[in-house]
Amino acid sequence: MRGKVAIVTGASRGIGKAVALGFAREGAAVVVAARSETAPHEKLPGTIHETAAQVEALGGRALAVRCDVTDEASVTAMVERSLGEFGRIDVLVNNAAVDFAYPVLGTPVKRWELVLRVNVTGPFLCARAVLPTMIQQGGGSIINISSLAAAERGSGTVGYSAAYAASKAALDRFTWALAAEVGRHNIAVNALKPSRVIDTEGMRMWADEDERIDWSSPDRMVACAVFLARQDARSVSGTVATDEELVSWHGLHA
Ligand SMILES: NC(=O)c1ccc[n+]([C@@H]2O[C@H](COP(=O)([O-])OP(=O)(O)OC[C@H]3O[C@@H](n4cnc5c(N)ncnc54)[C@H](OP(=O)(O)O)[C@@H]3O)[C@@H](O)[C@H]2O)c1
Repeated sequence: MRGKVAIVTGASRGIGKAVALGFAREGAAVVVAARSETAPHEKLPGTIHETAAQVEALGGRALAVRCDVTDEASVTAMVERSLGEFGRIDVLVNNAAVDFAYPVLGTPVKRWELVLRVNVTGPFLCARAVLPTMIQQGGGSIINISSLAAAERGSGTVGYSAAYAASKAALDRFTWALAAEVGRHNIAVNALKPSRVIDTEGMRMWADEDERIDWSSPDRMVACAVFLARQDARSVSGTVATDEELVSWHGLHA
């Protein structure tokens, strides 16, 4: 990925942070986009500046930008700063997301709308903001981080998360629609979902120690994100797949 510039939303912690560091190891310059400049509270560590510092410690180039993906002006400013710093944008990872595990009966409209705004409107705003640059450059890769919750019919891995399930189903559908729309500009659009629960700061907020037994590291997600970041519309696009599927279909080492 040497010479490429990647924006990773939600890179202050969790999978987004792991992907940002993975891209840096592959030689990409990384824009670390999320809201936290100081850790929100002790149970939720991670800031954009810490991730950027770790990218730089690996010898990479990083730009930490405070960005709320639900805010159009904030997204526009983040993309403008990225272009100002690095002059191009090759990859966008729409990773930022929230979940509120409440039953429908008892979910305030505000919570419902927040999940949809972060998980669906955010990827739309970020994609729309980078497309002119990618089109002008003649290609690019957009990766939407989705979830098995999009297609689970029982309570699945995510109980009491109707808003989250609906948002990730919408993100999968957005992936197909956008892939069809921008293929002629040689821009790949794919969705990637973890096949198992990944041990992240966000997940830890919701689970006790004894519930974390089968949790995985983000390593395989990182390998798959690196693989998808290298694609354009003439290679792999319009795929909605888990990390396990991508590893076996494409013989990835992860
Ligand atoms: N972990 C899993 O097992 C799992 C399973 C299935 C799917 N996923 C998906 O993988 C992705 C990452 O999950 P994770 O477990 O790493 O989550 P996490 O630890 O909770 O991190 C979420 C990230 O999103 C950012 N974020 C939230 N709202 C934002 C907003 N309005 N604007 C900008 N950034 C925002 C947070 O940063 P700030 O708070 O600093 O803004 C944080 O960096 C998500 O799309 C999630 O749905 C995860």
